[in-house]
Amino acid sequence: MTAVPRDNRPDIADLLTFYASAGVDEALEDEPVNRFAEAASKPPGRAPATVTPPTGEKGAALPRSTSVSRAEMGERQAAAPAVRAPSGTATVPDEAQAALARQLAMTAATLEELRQHMAAFDGCNLKYTAKNLVFADGNPNAAVMLVGEAPGRDEDIEGLPFVGRSGRLLDRMLAAIGLDRTSAYIANVIPWRPPGNRTPTPHETEICRPFIERQIELVNPKVLVNLGGPSAKTLLNTTEGILRLRGNWRVHTTASGIAIPAMPTLHPAYLLRTPAHKKLAWRDFLEVKAKLRALG
Ligand code: URA
Repeated sequence: MTAVPRDNRPDIADLLTFYASAGVDEALEDEPVNRFAEAASKPPGRAPATVTPPTGEKGAALPRSTSVSRAEMGERQAAAPAVRAPSGTATVPDEAQAALARQLAMTAATLEELRQHMAAFDGCNLKYTAKNLVFADGNPNAAVMLVGEAPGRDEDIEGLPFVGRSGRLLDRMLAAIGLDRTSAYIANVIPWRPPGNRTPTPHETEICRPFIERQIELVNPKVLVNLGGPSAKTLLNTTEGILRLRGNWRVHTTASGIAIPAMPTLHPAYLLRTPAHKKLAWRDFLEVKAKLRALG
């Protein structure tokens, strides 16, 4: 390989713009890899270079491993640096972050305050790979609140929940029972997109749980709809699978003791993959419609 003269090297901003325009908009590993340092340690003939390993919120240098399974990536992502310590060393999210999330959530008196607390919260590693906080969409005064799992790529880009393919299906499902985003409120258990849409780890879910619980409490809907297993399990305190849970009314109890009827149903993304089950979701949505009518 021929060394590129320093003056002809692309500016890092140009390089990132090139990657973004080529669709390379995701990190495949949760730790930065210093390819320049790698090249420097290879036999002569490779262009040596000295690059300071990135530090700070989005990329504190950590030891590198060679091959990482999806599950390992999830666990390691959860252990990634969440707060930048003044010395430049990183701290790891732990129970202290979950306690801080609980405290911040509890002290939010309004949805806007909650949104601000979440935007300022640095204790969830997912924030560092996400583009946006995906707080909510729809009408906070609506009688029905729907909660999904976590934002995907489109949601991350737009900062709004359910705007991609599954969101379009959700809109059609809502329309089928006479609702839309002016008469429903939509949020997720996890407000930051997990990288590569991987499943959030239990640790990440526990850290984010106080926020969604407070969000539900502040919206105080007449009816809650859990979209998919992760939302149902997290908010209904159960380990049962969604195919067993769906279609049966449960109760979500808020921290202050308000009992909200909750309907677990199938996630729109699952329905896109398994259209034969759309009829089950249709039944669940008819239940929701009937309940809303009964509750006036
Ligand atoms: N899936 C979810 O659970 N939430 C979204 O916002 C989008 C897709």
